[in-house]
This record gives sequence, C-alpha cells and structure tokens, in this order.
Amino acid sequence: MSEHKISQTFQNAEETAQFARALGGVLAQGDVVLLSGDVGAGKTHFCRSLIRSLLATPEDIPSPTFTLVQTYETTKGEIWHSDLYRLTSVNEVEELGLLEAFDTAICLVEWPDRLGSLMPQRALAVHLDHLTDAEARQMTLTWQDSAWTLRLTEWHTQ
Ligand SMILES: Nc1ncnc2c1ncn2[C@@H]1O[C@H](COP(=O)(O)OP(=O)(O)O)[C@@H](O)[C@H]1O
Ligand SMILES: [Mg+2]
Repeated sequence: MSEHKISQTFQNAEETAQFARALGGVLAQGDVVLLSGDVGAGKTHFCRSLIRSLLATPEDIPSPTFTLVQTYETTKGEIWHSDLYRLTSVNEVEELGLLEAFDTAICLVEWPDRLGSLMPQRALAVHLDHLTDAEARQMTLTWQDSAWTLRLTEWHTQ
C-alpha cells in the first residue's frame, strides 16, 4: 500500500472548522480519523466542529481529556471522540471498547500514537501544525487505503 498525502493551510479557526464539517459529510460507520499535533494545534476544535455539524440537536462537546472517550448519537450514527493522551496502558484501549468501535462507529482519535500497533491501517490521519501566525495552521492528511482517495477527491479538486 502506498502512502497518499495532501496539505492545506487554514488562516483561522473557522477555516479549520469548515474543512472538518466537509470531512464529516463524507464519513461513514467504520471510519477512523486520527488527529495528531501539539497541544493547542486544534485537534479538539476540529473534532468539535465535525461532531457539531452532525448533531440533530445541539449539545455540549467537551474535550475527552479526562474521560478518554465521549460518544454522540449523530445523523451519521454513533461517533466516538477520544483523547488518548492520558492513556495509562494500551490494554485500556480494549477496555474502553474502542477497538470494537473502530469497526462499528465513526471514531475520532486524538493522540493516536498511544495506540501503538493497534492503530488501524485503514485510518485517515490528520496532522495539525502551528504556523507563525497564531491563528494559522497547516493540515496534512495522510492515508494508505485508496478508498480515502476517492472520498477526498471532491475536496482535493476544489
Ligand atoms: N486555524 C485554527 N485551527 C484550529 N484551531 C485554531 C485555529 N486558530 C486558532 N485556533 C484555536 O486554537 C485552540 C486549539 O485548541 P484545541 O482544539 O483544544 O487543541 P488540541 O486539541 O490540539 O490540544 C482553540 O482555542 C482554537 O479556537
Ligand atoms: Mg485536544
């Protein structure tokens, strides 16, 4: 499997949210999106924007920093938002039910490096980097599964 990569710059938080909503529009059950980047890069902002756009009725979307997982019933079915920064052992991934959710829900995972070898190969990886301007971010998407190539084409060719 070859690796695919595309990058995009966002000038402010709303531009990031706009892309997150567009991505949310193409997601389906069984999709895993891995979000990496430093603290404050915008991983939670990205997830929150995506989830919010798929909620039938507005609700709070807290960061799962301490709970590790928050789940939402959305117009696309169940979404699991997890933040594995505080994961103490990789066994916890299974205990949380996250491995099963990778197959049965839409999963958004912050700090995916904590998954080690449990990281699903078919996932879409979203990396966010700070740029010099405090509000600007560079996003790099990488994936191996060619199914993502088709699904991202619409956005890529815009
Ligand atoms: N272009 C941007 N993209 C994403 N977040 C941005 C951007 N510009 C400013 N921000 C702000 O940066 C902060 C990112 O925080 P957060 O999403 O919690 O980061 P992380 O989860 O990566 O630690 C938010 O307050 C967000 O509003
Ligand atoms: Mg976060």
